[in-house]
Amino acid sequence: MNTYDTFDYDVLVIGAGGAGLRAAIEASAHGVRVGLICKSLLGKAHTVMAEGGVAAALSNVDERDNWKVHFTDTMRGGQYLNNWRMAELHAKEAPDRVRELEAWGALFDRTKDGKILQRNFGGHKYPRLAHVGDRTGLEMIRTLQDHGIHQGVSVHMEFTIISLLKSGDRVSGALGYDRERGRFNVFRAKAVVLATGGVGRAYKITSNSWEYTGDGHALAYRAGAELIDMEFLQFHPTGMVWPPSVQGILVTEGVRGEGGILLNKEGRRFMFDDIPDLYRNQTADNEEEGWRYTQGDRNARRPPELLTRDHVARCIVREIKAGRGSPHGGVFLDISWIKEKIPNAAEVIKKKLPSMYHQFKKLADIDITKEPMEVGPTTHYMMGGIRVNADTQMSTVPGLFAAGECAAGLHGANRLGGNSLSDLLVFGKRAGEHAALFAKEHGFETIDDARIKSIVDESLRPFERTGGENPFQVQYDLQDMMQDLVGIVRNEAEMQQAVTELKKLQERAQNVKVVGNREYNGGWHTALDLQNLLAVSEAIALAALQRKESRGAHFREDYPAKDDQNGKFNSVVRISADGQMEIRKDPLPEIREDLKEIIAEMK
Ligand code: FUM
Repeated sequence: MNTYDTFDYDVLVIGAGGAGLRAAIEASAHGVRVGLICKSLLGKAHTVMAEGGVAAALSNVDERDNWKVHFTDTMRGGQYLNNWRMAELHAKEAPDRVRELEAWGALFDRTKDGKILQRNFGGHKYPRLAHVGDRTGLEMIRTLQDHGIHQGVSVHMEFTIISLLKSGDRVSGALGYDRERGRFNVFRAKAVVLATGGVGRAYKITSNSWEYTGDGHALAYRAGAELIDMEFLQFHPTGMVWPPSVQGILVTEGVRGEGGILLNKEGRRFMFDDIPDLYRNQTADNEEEGWRYTQGDRNARRPPELLTRDHVARCIVREIKAGRGSPHGGVFLDISWIKEKIPNAAEVIKKKLPSMYHQFKKLADIDITKEPMEVGPTTHYMMGGIRVNADTQMSTVPGLFAAGECAAGLHGANRLGGNSLSDLLVFGKRAGEHAALFAKEHGFETIDDARIKSIVDESLRPFERTGGENPFQVQYDLQDMMQDLVGIVRNEAEMQQAVTELKKLQERAQNVKVVGNREYNGGWHTALDLQNLLAVSEAIALAALQRKESRGAHFREDYPAKDDQNGKFNSVVRISADGQMEIRKDPLPEIREDLKEIIAEMK
């Protein structure tokens, strides 16, 4: 019989990136006991991969910016599939959340007159991204972490949650293990906030590190919550492609925000070839105008490299497929060209993009002030996720809340760069607040020991098998398959094949074997993570098959056009009574009249 320790918290926050930290801070500020579960070490979170800035209509650099423009940009970027109420709250509240972070000690870059500096990013009409060089996410995590640990939040580092616990319909806690010793722990909680980030490790090429195995998505799904819009997975246009050991590592959009251009092997700026109608009147059609925009000319239109990520990623793939790519299967991203325009270009680049300078120098022996980088798309961000109430962030399971990347709605079919950081601040705060309020109105539930025993026994099964496969091999094959069959460019036949392959992988995952003991056993951890990766992969494939059109990050070569007649729905995934994954379409809720008018006015 396995024994376990039990911890009691009013609010349990699972995930300690920006959203989890912000939720924990807020819940704690409401006077409840908060536990924070961190899969890795505190501070190591995908939040740091949002390098180029946090989007908020502070209007420090261009006074024409305001929440209405930010709201409209977000809706347009998401191809109007966004939850409009979330987009409204986000645009209205982001400036206060950024200023609050500054008050807590975040050191943003400054304008000449001492305000928070803002830079251009794809799909944002005005310079809107408050930033700290190209380390914005890192500075945000540092600030939230410093603030959080002084709020009395109890942190459990290197813990993985394997199941949520329920009492009737309501969530009542979670069961997990500590990665160091492999001991099980039960967390009783009156409310639980999921803030576990994304699903990038389901793919071969990704900016996500090992933690991002869709844990929150899968935990919520298995607990009966609805997931929406899982077909919308963001491939960031620029990840490193060379050397192979660093493939997928992010190259911030900030490079393009500061004037970086994309070139094919012929030296042609191919982004001018295809400017979508939706953005035609905002996008420069010549190099000179694009550069003037970068330099702050308010009448100029932005360069085509700052079109939305879904579009830029597809243009890059097109060049590569047409044989016009770089030697290692990417395209060129050049910031060094600005030396033709400004005398002190090398200093400017090092000051604005210090991490990129060091990243390429150290990892690829490239001096980005002198030569172009080689880049290609990398799996970066999941727009789909746990369906939540826009105001409270509660999922469809009472007492279960979600915030940040694992929650869905704000970004619709495609997220604008920098909106992830403002998302996690705005909705992390809301989730923490409403989880605390929920906890104040509900008590602890008793834990069902038989249920705990059954989950623990099941999780230890891989140690008992005498035959069986190495879980790393199954994970590798899954990543390879998803990259090939449910990637940037999709079609019916390949996705049907993916569904068949997923069934086989699920069977293989049921039969993996691990050796050794429970202490720091990477094979065992992977065997457990695999269940989550497979669940989210199935949800992605089913939702992508169901959507027979191309919209935002979901591009089908067999249905290359957007279909406004049939495409305006949310894909909803949930578990059936017999444990199967069910999918359906829910029509989009009608957008509020005054918000419709704002969109029309902005157009
Ligand atoms: O390119 C970047 O700096 C990433 C930002 C984001 O994903 O929001």
